Amino acid sequence: MMNKPPTGQPQPVRSLDARYYTDPAIFGNEVAGVLSRTWQLGCHASQVANPGDYAAFEIAGQNLFALRGRDGKVRAFYNVCQHRAHELVAGTGNCKVVVCPYHAWSYELTGELRAGPNIKSVPGFERGDICLSEVRAEVFCGFVFVNLDDDARPMEDWFPGVAAELRAFVPDIDRLKPLEWVEIPENCNWKVSVENYSECYHCALNHPTFATGVIKPETYDIQPQGGYCLRHTTQCQNLEAMSYAIDLTANAHAGDYSSWFLWPMVSFQVYPGNVLNTYHWRPVDVDHVVVWRGWYTVDGVESDVIRRLAVQDRETTVEEDIGLVESVQRGLKSRGYRPGPLVVDPNCGVNSEHSIQALQQWMREAVDG
Ligand code: FES
Ligand SMILES: [Fe+2]
Repeated sequence: MMNKPPTGQPQPVRSLDARYYTDPAIFGNEVAGVLSRTWQLGCHASQVANPGDYAAFEIAGQNLFALRGRDGKVRAFYNVCQHRAHELVAGTGNCKVVVCPYHAWSYELTGELRAGPNIKSVPGFERGDICLSEVRAEVFCGFVFVNLDDDARPMEDWFPGVAAELRAFVPDIDRLKPLEWVEIPENCNWKVSVENYSECYHCALNHPTFATGVIKPETYDIQPQGGYCLRHTTQCQNLEAMSYAIDLTANAHAGDYSSWFLWPMVSFQVYPGNVLNTYHWRPVDVDHVVVWRGWYTVDGVESDVIRRLAVQDRETTVEEDIGLVESVQRGLKSRGYRPGPLVVDPNCGVNSEHSIQALQQWMREAVDG
């Protein structure tokens, strides 16, 4: 039995019920709901740099592709032919028009049906009535985001000011290209992984390299910022001790660390030296998620420093977190687990889970309306 607090005492906020992380019906509800109504990272704009370039990806169980038009605009479409449903493209590539591999119907880069073998013989066939199904797309600091909700508010409404802040922290952000996208499968629900990313209460014990080599834990904090962003800030350890050289005179934020988590599953992280790296999560099913760690350089030029950072991160923080989140997922299935109180310190700080309180509130709203 749990002890009841004396009447009048505030009750601690409790963590989410285990079923949010283990019930396939709740996962199904999320796929049709929150994952289809939020901005999700599709691909990098450099993958569709030229007119006719396309890149296929999957969001909320739907096959989609981004395609750059002759007008320079990036559009996103469901990856399905409007004849008899064959998929149109796979992977990345370039095309003059989009040609379906099944019966060779072709579509303009804007999605309109252009031609198809023998379609003119069909009485009443109105070519102009047929068009690929388009989805909302935005290029945000060089990343192509999509939202399956036609009525979604623009990203600037969801995450006010974040694009401008990112440009200040990473002045070259629009010229970056991915050098590495490291794929990390985790045997856990996507929310377990996202929560683990969104608190540093576990860092001192579990991330010795990060907590002693990069950040100053006593200055670490994570705060909700303008709607659906969680902003991580910290001061850094002695920058001379960093494993790579930093020119602190290069710009105002050359010595800073910060990160912007954009609900529900993307995070932009900046290391000292204006080094952008990203997380994005792709749920597979109720207890599997793939985390992608992205590392970038200007114009995609080779960089030993960035490659080393990617390897060090994979071997330390990432590896340490896999063990944690997979243990939590097993624990959530235990009949012996009752959701415990979150450690919400009114003064916030690194040893407080106020960020988890905000995140779990968004998770509840997403599932329970
Ligand atoms: S399904 Fe695409 S042309 Fe027939
Ligand atoms: Fe961690």
